Amino acid sequence: MIISPSLLACDFNNLEREIKKIYAYGCEYLHLDIMDGVFVKNISFGLPVISSIRKICGIVFDVHLMIVEPSRYIREFAEAGADIINFHVEACKSDREILETINLIKKYNKKCALTIKPATSAEILAPFLDKLDMVLVMSVEPGFGGQKFIEGALDKLKYLSELKRVKNYSFDIEIDGGVNLENIARIKESGANIIVAGSSIFGADDIKYAIETLRK
Ligand code: DX5
Ligand code: ZN
Repeated sequence: MIISPSLLACDFNNLEREIKKIYAYGCEYLHLDIMDGVFVKNISFGLPVISSIRKICGIVFDVHLMIVEPSRYIREFAEAGADIINFHVEACKSDREILETINLIKKYNKKCALTIKPATSAEILAPFLDKLDMVLVMSVEPGFGGQKFIEGALDKLKYLSELKRVKNYSFDIEIDGGVNLENIARIKESGANIIVAGSSIFGADDIKYAIETLRK
C-alpha cells in the first residue's frame, strides 16, 4: 500500500521542509491537487510551484487535475515534472476526448489515471481500464481538503478491484478524500492500494506517527 500525502493540507510557508519530511518518513508519492476555480470552486497552486518543488527530491508526483478541458495542459504538467497525471471523466465532453487525453499523457511517457467524482458511477471507467495505469475514486466532493469520507466510494473500490481481478488488468486503485485511521482498514479491504491523505497527515501533531499508523 502506497501513501500519497496531499500537499493541499501542508504548511505552504515551508513547502521544502514539509516535502522532505514525508519523503524521509517513507512516502513514495506526493499528491498535487490542481484546481482552476471553474471545474471546482477553489484555486490551489499551479505549474511554477510544481517545477520549483520538483528540485527537492525524487518523490513520485501524483498530479490530480481538477480543471476543465485537461488536454490543454497535459504537456505543461508533463514538462513541469508530473509522473502520474490524473484527470476527471466529468471534465471531458465525450469518450473521444477522454481517449485523446489518455493518449496525450502516454505520448509524454507519463502514467495515466482517470478520476471520478462521488456522484459518478464507476461503470463509466470500464471502457478505458485496459489503457490506464491508475483509477482515482474520489471519496469527497473535489475542491477542498478536510471533508468527511463518503462511504459509497467503498462499493466503487470493490467493483473496480473485482473487474481488475476478473480481466487481469494491472491498474492501481487510488482513493482520495477524508481518509483517516477510522476508515483506512475498510478502504484497504475494499481494494484501494494507493491512499491519498491530506489533513490526517499534515494536520497531525506527529506526522511520522500518522504515516506509520495509516500504513499499518
Ligand atoms: C480534494 C482533493 C484531495 C484533498 C484530500 O479536492 O482532491 O486530494 O486534498 O484532503 P483530505 O485528506 O484532507 O480529505
Ligand atoms: Zn486530490
